Amino acid sequence: MRGVVLAGGLGTRLDPITRIINKHLLPVYDKPMIYYPIQTLVNAGIEDILIVTGGRNAGDFLRLLGNGREFGLKHLDYTYQEGEGGIAEALDLARHFSRGEKLCVMLGDNIIERNVVAAVKAFRRQPRGARILLKDVPDPARYGVPRFKEGRIVAIEEKPAVPGSDYAVTGIYMFDGTVFDKIANLERSDRGELEITDVNNQYIGEGSMTWEVLDGWWTDAGTVKGLLRASKLVASTGANHL
Ligand code: G1P
Repeated sequence: MRGVVLAGGLGTRLDPITRIINKHLLPVYDKPMIYYPIQTLVNAGIEDILIVTGGRNAGDFLRLLGNGREFGLKHLDYTYQEGEGGIAEALDLARHFSRGEKLCVMLGDNIIERNVVAAVKAFRRQPRGARILLKDVPDPARYGVPRFKEGRIVAIEEKPAVPGSDYAVTGIYMFDGTVFDKIANLERSDRGELEITDVNNQYIGEGSMTWEVLDGWWTDAGTVKGLLRASKLVASTGANHL
């Protein structure tokens, strides 16, 4: 399985902090934000990793991360996303990198306390489809939210006014090689983006989506409150053995 960290976008929810620095390079406690998702993938045994970046000063990633030696890697791949077209558009840039293999995709602003070792193992055994990780949250309306029927996810709704459950779909996604065909089917949402939720709903439609609930805390650090929360959580419990 190959790994992709999505670290593009303009980080407008963190303006003015992100006016001259990419969101994923901001400090979360004592490390740049992007260290956490990279370490999460490495901890799950994933060694071929693509960083999708974009926006201003994209060269900073190369200067910071190089070939990933700090993470025990021999090599890192990089690609550049022009504009801000959404998570699925950013992921489409991983088409060549994927070589048709399964992918574990992580949003660069998602930080977890523990690991995804068991989920990655389960997905390696899964013959096809996708696997997502859910987390119960006090404010599901801010996220993609699954709706269940008899223990199966029947749909995911992006930022629903009335959430169908108390779970957020976290920004850790596992996809088989058909993900790029699914991205090709997408149309832009009301916010002008190609939505990862619409990709997930295609897997749900073909009955090939599996899920589990993530252990330990999870936060996205893409808002002012989230960024502060992430630093506090890392300071108090640590994350990812970093
Ligand atoms: C994105 C996804 C959403 C997911 C969230 C996790 O939201 O669209 O489904 O729950 O990441 O961080 P966004 O950050 O684009 O608002």
